[in-house]
Amino acid sequence: MTPPATFERVAPDIISDPRRPSRRAVLGTGLATAAWGRTVRKVEAAPEPDGLAARAARRGIVYGAAVSSEPLRTNRMLQAALARECAVIVPSFETKWGQTEQTRGTHTYARSDLVVDWAIRNGLAARGHAVIWYRNLPAWAGDALKEAGGAAIFDEHIRQVMGHYKGRLVEWDVVNEAIEISDGVPGGVRHSLFYEALGPDYITRAFTVAREADPSARLFYNDYGLEYDSPYDEQKRNAVLRLLTGLRRAGLVDGLGIQCHLKVGNRLTPEVLRRFLGEVAALGLRIALTELDVNDSRLAADVPLRDASVAEHAKRFLDVALDQTAVMELVTWGLSDIDTWLNGKGFARGDGQPSRCLPLDTTMQRKPLWHTIAMCLDAAPIRQSVFE
Ligand code: G3I
Repeated sequence: MTPPATFERVAPDIISDPRRPSRRAVLGTGLATAAWGRTVRKVEAAPEPDGLAARAARRGIVYGAAVSSEPLRTNRMLQAALARECAVIVPSFETKWGQTEQTRGTHTYARSDLVVDWAIRNGLAARGHAVIWYRNLPAWAGDALKEAGGAAIFDEHIRQVMGHYKGRLVEWDVVNEAIEISDGVPGGVRHSLFYEALGPDYITRAFTVAREADPSARLFYNDYGLEYDSPYDEQKRNAVLRLLTGLRRAGLVDGLGIQCHLKVGNRLTPEVLRRFLGEVAALGLRIALTELDVNDSRLAADVPLRDASVAEHAKRFLDVALDQTAVMELVTWGLSDIDTWLNGKGFARGDGQPSRCLPLDTTMQRKPLWHTIAMCLDAAPIRQSVFE
């Protein structure tokens, strides 16, 4: 019988070196002994009492980070920092369809297993990302989904990837970025391959199959463009609320993932954000901040000024977001600037300087953004136990 997938399950008593505090002691939240009864024999690095995960846990919040398999495999400094600072890890791309089934019918999980196994071996939770996403699809999926048996292929993909991790991941972003107002489709649904092949009901279908594929996992809808005071974001918030209302009524969704790809210079109006978070909470949903980073590309290259502006912008957002007690998780889209998508093609700074969008710099030193997140976590109202 698969134990219920909740955070306490994956923070087992760590009986390694008796001189090291167990993760339970450090997190100070009385995390239940793992339902598995598993004992983690080795910890890459002891969690720090003042680390972000420990601070978050004292408020009933879970903090973690996304990581890519390559830097995780090769960078021991990053491994140690993740173990010190995080309570949950998310593979940044390795569980996406384009990675798990590049050849139709052949499923490969070596890279995603590396991330998930590392997390669990070190007493961290693992969170799944983007079972159904219009990007990063296998090349063969476009035609296959439009065949007569396309729906069965869609279902089988969900069953395969969630079945592979059944009982080991606390939750999944089942559908990612399905709303795109500018596509002009009723309900604001993105005119994606899935929409073309299966119609707008593909979203409900995905959650229905996901619920069966791993009953122990919490199921999230995840999206960006929900954070700021702009006409685009406002329309998107309304469309997402409508989508969530229907899914919630059907008992298919447990939470909303707000990606939080923040950008210095965007207009943040606290009352707008507060209202939206309240409306989601009123649906009885958990809220996870799933991909927080702060894009500094509008700022001059000066590092101290950039770091200060990034931290200030994040504080304005987190002051509001963490004040809503339905917000139970905060995941940064990377822990260190060494592993961020914002240095990638099409997103990198015009001056060629690397982005400074994450809590730690490339040598794992804590930046002003780390201190801001720590301060905002310390000030957050205490949640009902994450175990409820
Ligand atoms: O690590 C391999 C490398 O070994 C190989 O040589 C190279 C060329 O094939 O690919 C490298 O992997 C790439 C990886 O980024 C590196 O981190 C993958 O191909 C590439 O697909 C992957 O891109 C990811 C992108 O989603 C598309 O899946 C980014 O890491 C990831 O940060 C980004 O994350 C998205 C979220 O899923 C959704 N929200 C937006 C966010 C940012 O775009």
